[in-house]
Amino acid sequence: MPRVALNASLETGGQGRELSRECRSQPSGAYRRSATRGRRASGEAINCSRNLNLGENGAVSLLFAPASYLHRLSSAMPDAQPPAFPSDSTTPSAASTAGQTYADALRADPRVAQAKELLRQALAEHAAGLTAVRPADETLRVPYERLLAEAAAVRGGPLLWPYLSAGVGNGPYVQLADGSVKLDFIGGIGVYGCGHSSPELLDAAVDAALEDVAMQGNLQQHPPSIRIAEQLVKLASAGGAPLSYCMLSTSGAMANENALKLAFHKAAPADRVIAFDNAFAGRSLALAAITDRPKYRQGLPLALHVDYLPAWNFQRPEESQRLALDEVRRLLARHPGRYAAFWAELIAGEGGYYPTDPRFFQTLCEPIRAAGIPIIFDEIQTFSRTSQPFAFQHYQLHQYADIVTVGKITQVCATLYRETFKPTAPILSQTFTGASSSIAIGLETLKLLHQKECFGSEGWNVRRHRYFAAGLERLATKYPNLIRGPFGEGMMIAFTPGDGSYEQAKALMDILFAEGLLGFLCGSDPTRVRFLPPPAITTEQHIDAALELLDRSLAKFATSLTADA
Ligand SMILES: Cc1ncc(COP(=O)(O)O)c(C=O)c1O
Repeated sequence: MPRVALNASLETGGQGRELSRECRSQPSGAYRRSATRGRRASGEAINCSRNLNLGENGAVSLLFAPASYLHRLSSAMPDAQPPAFPSDSTTPSAASTAGQTYADALRADPRVAQAKELLRQALAEHAAGLTAVRPADETLRVPYERLLAEAAAVRGGPLLWPYLSAGVGNGPYVQLADGSVKLDFIGGIGVYGCGHSSPELLDAAVDAALEDVAMQGNLQQHPPSIRIAEQLVKLASAGGAPLSYCMLSTSGAMANENALKLAFHKAAPADRVIAFDNAFAGRSLALAAITDRPKYRQGLPLALHVDYLPAWNFQRPEESQRLALDEVRRLLARHPGRYAAFWAELIAGEGGYYPTDPRFFQTLCEPIRAAGIPIIFDEIQTFSRTSQPFAFQHYQLHQYADIVTVGKITQVCATLYRETFKPTAPILSQTFTGASSSIAIGLETLKLLHQKECFGSEGWNVRRHRYFAAGLERLATKYPNLIRGPFGEGMMIAFTPGDGSYEQAKALMDILFAEGLLGFLCGSDPTRVRFLPPPAITTEQHIDAALELLDRSLAKFATSLTADA
């Protein structure tokens, strides 16, 4: 039977209705709820300090004291030092007690812990059936079609794909509003790092719901904003990268815009950027100039001068290395003093899941660093997916990281930077730096990624990649002309379907969707289907289920190609 240490002493304040527990009166053992509601004299104390034997209803995890709350925020990673704050043995109390706020008292209120526990239980019960894919419920099909039509009407065009969540999932399984259950191996393109309806994230979201504002910002910051920035700095600098500072923002594009601004401020009056062929940086005006897709720039004024380097080609490694290095030298000679940034996504994400040989980047970074050009690593998609939290750590590029951006799985986005890049002029996104819930869930996600041993040369990201890749290779043997690959690294994995055209990749993606496996397109020549399984919770059984669905889908894809021929 699970045991939870309860060490809390509750002083009731004023006339409030109190839900207390008969901690003192219990002789030993069984925990019994005593919903003692009533008026208590101000200052009367109820002391609880015992280990609880939990009943059949499961664990009661009581995060009582305000110390627990902030300690929890500060201990997202091991050996994080709890902030100076009253210890767990401090009596959670009414706000009038010195050193305590009303918010501390609210968080310490046993009703909050009890509400969380009830929510967790309800969620567990209602999500328990979501353990395998399932087709749509016929009775929900028509209302679902109507919803999709309403979505198309209100946004002026159809959704990217027919995904409208019902609001509950279980690990990598998610139910859509048509009642179907999908195995979600794309997670909003890398957002659901802990899967769907994670009980831990629910818990964190309840903490956030108790905050007085939904959005944090420049003039309304709360302690968890500090904690997540500290955690990201701590993770980023763990291998020696001198990334000491972090600013939060609300989207990957915003984090990248801030990265550009910091680099431009530092390198002024330089006005050019070096990026790679096939780069993806986001969709704002400036980022659309870096993103190497003509369609993204259509109708837009040119916001930046960008010069592109050939990317690493795994089929011609030495040649691509030489070509890229020659091009760097040519650009540096052609525009001396004009480059404000070298922009690199270390594994091309939207571009098609192309990992790179670390020596390729090291060789290019050397002359770029020697020329004093700021180096920016865009880790919006790669963060948490390789053998290390950051791909620049995976590739041993610590010393070159001047500015690094993260987003997606972290829920709130961030720009990390060195001392010499401290802002000297206004940056972006400061009315809103992040939603209280994003920050709480982001912190919890960082903690879970660590707890679930995702990182390390034999961490789960690497092991699951091997397992998934082996399965994809088996399918490539079974369907030799229908699937090539796998490509990618860690928990970013892709393959090229059929002839590599957009049409065939889209056709297979649609079949996968109908069969119940969610993956999405990336790259353009060829177009691939990619998966971003949630790193904190994906198991080999989930990968087996995905491979089975893929196998079934490939058989249907083969039939459709024969029919088209
Ligand atoms: C590498 C990279 N950078 C930037 C972005 C933009 O992030 P957001 O869509 O949150 O603005 C993305 C989004 O896919 C990305 O993959």
